[in-house]
Amino acid sequence: MEDRVEGVTREPYRMEGLPERVTVYEVGPRDGLQNESAVVPVEVKAEFVARLAAAGHRVIEATSFVHPKWVPQLADAAELLTSMERAPGVRYPVLVPNERGLDRALEHGVTEIAIFGSATETFAAKNLNRTLDSQFEMFAPVVSRALEHGLKVRAYVSMCFGDPWEGPTPVAQVVEVGRRLLDLGCYELSLGDTIGVGTPGHVTALIEAFGGPEKLAVHFHDTYGQALANTLAALRAGVTVVDASTGGIGGCPYAESATGNLATEDLVWMLHGLGVETGLDLNTLVETSTWLAARLGRPSPSRVVQALS
Ligand code: HMG
Ligand code: MG
Repeated sequence: MEDRVEGVTREPYRMEGLPERVTVYEVGPRDGLQNESAVVPVEVKAEFVARLAAAGHRVIEATSFVHPKWVPQLADAAELLTSMERAPGVRYPVLVPNERGLDRALEHGVTEIAIFGSATETFAAKNLNRTLDSQFEMFAPVVSRALEHGLKVRAYVSMCFGDPWEGPTPVAQVVEVGRRLLDLGCYELSLGDTIGVGTPGHVTALIEAFGGPEKLAVHFHDTYGQALANTLAALRAGVTVVDASTGGIGGCPYAESATGNLATEDLVWMLHGLGVETGLDLNTLVETSTWLAARLGRPSPSRVVQALS
């Protein structure tokens, strides 16, 4: 697919040491919508997910089975899963923190889930109502039961670079928490820069501290404008799965300094410019963000969406 851009010729220029292809793990319907003040009707969410699949996405994190009082924006998770269409070949993971969430997800035919751990004590308390250590007691039965049911389980580790209450997160602490999450039986670990404070050298050091990119994905929020630079550092370190959110919406309601995610369109602009395949159609993505922005009542934060729409 060719990106149609008026007045700009898009000849790819490759850089050494980059993958041929990157999987964009789309988190807009979950990380994006969980942080919106506008209540988005379930029909709009279903259409959003369908539009993302039509743009070429093959992984779309659809919603969360967390406590509905903790994240009211996604309290309609069951309704969404009942009403939304599933496109062939597309995966629709959902966030699940505990066994109650897993039961709800299983009732709705979910085949992939993601657990979400914290690298810091304070965020474990604020986001999960658990201590750093006791979060694993909550996750362990979720992962083992999910695997028994044949589900794929991804893990996130949040606050990988810094935490608004504790300051910089020691690299060794992130590796320890991340390893413990992977050891539960997760197929992938997404390194979350929840508040967007990481910089490229730090990203490289963290991936090296894990012993290389195997099983790692990256999840950058763009609070300090570092998300694309950090992504490039991760790609050069061998990572091939990058989380991003339509139009750059997103954030975490339990970390006020968490603003939007890396915008899918900004990521795709860079990847296609580097000759890295994504399978995504940039123009359909931009149309989707423009359509969504009208429903959310605010312009898309993505620079590429602003430039092209
Ligand atoms: P808790 O209050 O400790 O829960 O919350 P509990 O286990 O004590 O249960 C209390 C009651 O809640 C019980 O009901 C449970 O059944 C019910 P009762 O018996 O009293 O009637 N309950 C539930 N109901 C529905 N669904 C559930 C559920 N669980 C319990 N799943 C809990 C603990 C983990 C549930 C809560 O803290 C929570 O929901 N947290 C989620 C917060 C969240 O969603 N944050 C945003 C996502 S994380 C993120 O954005 C970061 C990420 O993007 C990566 C990055 O950027 O770094 C992933
Ligand atoms: Mg996030």
